[in-house]
Amino acid sequence: MKGQGTASALVGKRAGATAAAIDRAFADLLPLPDDPRRRLYEAMRHAAMGGGKRLRPLLVEATAELFNIAEESALRVGLAVECIHVYSLVHDDLPAMDDDDMRRGKPTVHKAFDEATAILAGDCLHDLAFEILVDEATHGDPFVRCDLVRALAAASGPAGMAGGQMMDLEAGKASFDLATVTRLQQLKTGALIGFCIEAGAILARIPPEARTGLHGYARDIGLAFQIADDLLDVEGDAALAGKALGKDADAGKETFVSLLGAERAREQALLLVDQAKAHLHGFGAEADLLRAIADYIVERDR
Ligand code: IPE
Ligand code: IPE
Ligand code: MG
Ligand code: MG
Ligand code: MG
Repeated sequence: MKGQGTASALVGKRAGATAAAIDRAFADLLPLPDDPRRRLYEAMRHAAMGGGKRLRPLLVEATAELFNIAEESALRVGLAVECIHVYSLVHDDLPAMDDDDMRRGKPTVHKAFDEATAILAGDCLHDLAFEILVDEATHGDPFVRCDLVRALAAASGPAGMAGGQMMDLEAGKASFDLATVTRLQQLKTGALIGFCIEAGAILARIPPEARTGLHGYARDIGLAFQIADDLLDVEGDAALAGKALGKDADAGKETFVSLLGAERAREQALLLVDQAKAHLHGFGAEADLLRAIADYIVERDR
């Protein structure tokens, strides 16, 4: 949104290590079988490996760091949420939804393979997310694993990401007001981002009543993240973003940018970032990565 600042530099450094770990984990989890299912695995690898900011796994890591959670646990939870995120992108790009040809600088899965394969690859990434969470390697306590599954399912389904995607499809036909667009974005994008923060608290067995600050942080950065995505859609560089832009206006969808104008949308995003950081006042230097991520969310150019 406004070039690369110090937050972007710090986040970029950490995200690079996270991205490498996520790629390695997907490579291990998805070896190519020597049978007719090979194409499905190839499509899953095409979607999941070698691209993306990996912001959600980084958010899990950053929250887990507040509570000294084992790196392996945080990585596995980050991998699970990235599976859901990637599945949502594969399906979002399908002709029945946004009909996009490019994603993360590569052809979309239905372009590189075909629509049926893309649908199945998305389905299987969704399934893989829960398989990862229920594995003992994620956390030794089965109650913690169960709570992670509950939270990720809630964030992904009709009261979360998929519900937001339904509202987004309706947005092309209706004229939504600011409150409805806010609700749409909170579900479409905010719910999975919220899960990343909640997951850190679940792994640390923080009681729900002690999560208010983290909850406020998650809500504010989730909304700021989607405002930045909408701004990039209007004024970003498609080569940097690795995907087609200008799609929201073409589809006649109301967004924060169409409703408020780019200037006020940007102000709103910056305000949300300040508010998000204020929610972390109870934490010291251990929350610096979360603070930098909040700044990065509006500084980013991709
Ligand atoms: C794009 O998400 C889709 C939205 C939820 C707005 P990201 O901007 O996090 O995409 P990647 O993971 O970096 O490709
Ligand atoms: C997609 O939103 C969000 C999900 C996949 C849940 P967009 O349609 O705005 O995402 P981009 O702009 O294609 O990445
Ligand atoms: Mg979409
Ligand atoms: Mg899209
Ligand atoms: Mg978008």
